[in-house]
Amino acid sequence: MNILVTGGAGYIGSHTIIELQNAGHVVTTVDNLSNSNQEALRRVEKITGKPIEFHQFAVQNRAKLEDLFSSHAFNAVIHFAGLKSVGESVAEPLQYYQNNIDSTLSLLDAMNRHGVKKFLFSSSATVYGTPEELPLKETSRVGIGITNPYGQTKYMIEQILKDTCVADESFECTLLRYFNPVGADPSGTIGEDPSDTPNNLLPYAAQVAVGKLKEVKVFGNDYDTVDGTGVRDYIHVVDLAKGHVAALNHTSQGANAYNLCTGKGTSVLELINAFSKAADREIPYVITDRRPGDVASCYASPAKANRELGWYAERTIEQACADSWRWQKGNPNGYN
Ligand code: NAD
Ligand code: UFG
Repeated sequence: MNILVTGGAGYIGSHTIIELQNAGHVVTTVDNLSNSNQEALRRVEKITGKPIEFHQFAVQNRAKLEDLFSSHAFNAVIHFAGLKSVGESVAEPLQYYQNNIDSTLSLLDAMNRHGVKKFLFSSSATVYGTPEELPLKETSRVGIGITNPYGQTKYMIEQILKDTCVADESFECTLLRYFNPVGADPSGTIGEDPSDTPNNLLPYAAQVAVGKLKEVKVFGNDYDTVDGTGVRDYIHVVDLAKGHVAALNHTSQGANAYNLCTGKGTSVLELINAFSKAADREIPYVITDRRPGDVASCYASPAKANRELGWYAERTIEQACADSWRWQKGNPNGYN
């Protein structure tokens, strides 16, 4: 298939392009490089030995999008492009609503005009807000207790896509709800490259391990969990990437949500411990206050994706830490 990937230079997009190209798909990507580096795409080309057609512009740019759709016959669109920092979204809500929602509306418009009927969306566990049950299922309640504008954009976009599918029965939409992506391509040449101090646990721990940051701040150890620290469903980014190929191969009607997750919860201290083993060094940490907006536990059942997409998360936390460490050690300053 001829696939348009938005946000392809980013963390998940770049790993997914590898899997798409390895599966024989032809990839064009649009990225404004607001949170990424074109070097990621060059390295992906080296890994797969296949070219990526790259266009640098913001997906909300309707004129450029129209040119692109007029000159390509896309079979499907995978929409990764979006801003994703929870804290920044609280400080800059309009930027988040504008960027994330308008980019999606522009894409849907262009797809509609050009008869492109298959859309995969990077949604998030954040749509479940405060989990009403664990493990979460696709049928669990969504939209209640979302604590930040970033999460709201994901929830709103899911609604927009569901409405679009109701209006056009030939439009096929897959809502991929990612849990906590970690790890890197085993080559160690591409990985997560936060432009600022990382917000997420694993990249933060990796920068502590490499000596760029002093210690991990563990946000609370008084939750009702195995050791009092927050529990999440960490999924290797290569497994996540393969989930997109599986979703592309699957034909369904309307809007369908899938949890891309492992079904297993891992605590903050367990993850720090696993990373420390992978890096073969102590990772210093201190316990601090809880981070506002965090929930105690968030993990989900992958049963629907297993059953309907034939997709399974196969890689372990240990592999994710080893792969992440290989990337961090070899590229202490990311792509720069
Ligand atoms: P990322 O920031 O590494 O990648 C996003 C890419 O989109 C970047 O390359 C950025 O430059 C680009 N971009 C942003 N806005 C754009 C726009 N308007 N036009 C063109 N390009 C634009 O993030 P990621 O971790 O790879 O996440 C990809 C998607 O998955 C995002 O939509 C994110 O919200 C979602 N997601 C991520 C996580 C996570 O923990 N990483 C979890 C759940 C969902
Ligand atoms: N944590 C720390 N110290 C840190 C960073 C995180 O103790 O420096 C803890 C958090 O309190 C939480 C766990 O590590 O218990 C994971 O936190 P992350 O920030 O890595 O991930 P979140 O689960 O908070 O958020 C992620 C994505 C969001 C997405 C959400 C739900 O970053 O974009 O999963 O899918 F919305």
